[in-house]
Amino acid sequence: MSDLDGLRVLVTGGASGIGLATALHLEARGARVVVLDRDVSGQPDRACVQADVSDAAAVDRAVGEAAELLSGLDVLVNNAGIGAQGTVADNDDAEWHRVLDVNVVGMVRASRAALGHLRASDHAAIVNVCSIAATAGLPNRALYSASKGAVLSLTLAMAADHVREGIRVNCVTPGTADTPWVGRLLDAAADPQAERAALEARQPTGRLVSADEVAAAIAYLASPAASATTGIALAVDGGMQGLRLRPRED
Ligand SMILES: NC(=O)c1ccc[n+]([C@@H]2O[C@H](COP(=O)([O-])OP(=O)(O)OC[C@H]3O[C@@H](n4cnc5c(N)ncnc54)[C@H](O)[C@@H]3O)[C@@H](O)[C@H]2O)c1
Repeated sequence: MSDLDGLRVLVTGGASGIGLATALHLEARGARVVVLDRDVSGQPDRACVQADVSDAAAVDRAVGEAAELLSGLDVLVNNAGIGAQGTVADNDDAEWHRVLDVNVVGMVRASRAALGHLRASDHAAIVNVCSIAATAGLPNRALYSASKGAVLSLTLAMAADHVREGIRVNCVTPGTADTPWVGRLLDAAADPQAERAALEARQPTGRLVSADEVAAAIAYLASPAASATTGIALAVDGGMQGLRLRPRED
């Protein structure tokens, strides 16, 4: 018997990286998980529903399918997201709309579709995957940071709106995490090794966060053990937001 036995969970963007690690972590602790992703082709062993979170009708259908597969829904993990690089000078309006549509409105669509099911649950929770980019100014991430800043505010507003319905809403703010996404960024860098070293040096722990570490934090916020916790942002960032270290003297 595990603490998450029977918890019915939908993880968006659950086919890769943090979302996949979350699905595996929750399953290992007894939860029943359905993955929603725009590409579910690599997930033969997993219960999946296919949808792009930028398509409202597809999200409504996929959330409905997931709730049918699970006979209800207790937890929604809003994890699907995409990156964007550059200053405000670098992305045109279409790119701003595209990224905000996935990273912010995508969470709204999935939450809206899930609310009816969550209201019927005794352990309802939504966990949004935000980012250190919401709470610290990072260079060349204007659009991505704006999208995650919106996720942070959305989390607080949703927590207030739904607390009296018994639905807790929280988010995690990971630092740079070792996922296929970051792998792609490193591969595209002029000097991938130097880029990785720079990202590692930015975190006081001196290393990237693992997807499993983010998954464990998401699982905590999703679990009945966190039943008095709503409207918070849990940093999983190797100390990047809160600590100010002196340079190494060795
Ligand atoms: N990796 C990091 O350093 C990091 C740090 C902080 C926050 N995050 C956040 O974590 C989340 C997951 O990132 P990751 O690093 O695991 O990325 P990833 O690229 O490894 O996985 C993202 C998953 O989301 C899916 N997805 C993307 N757009 C989608 C859409 N429109 N509809 C449905 N599915 C979609 C992808 O198919 C993929 O399976 C994102 O919200 C990201 O902003 C990542």
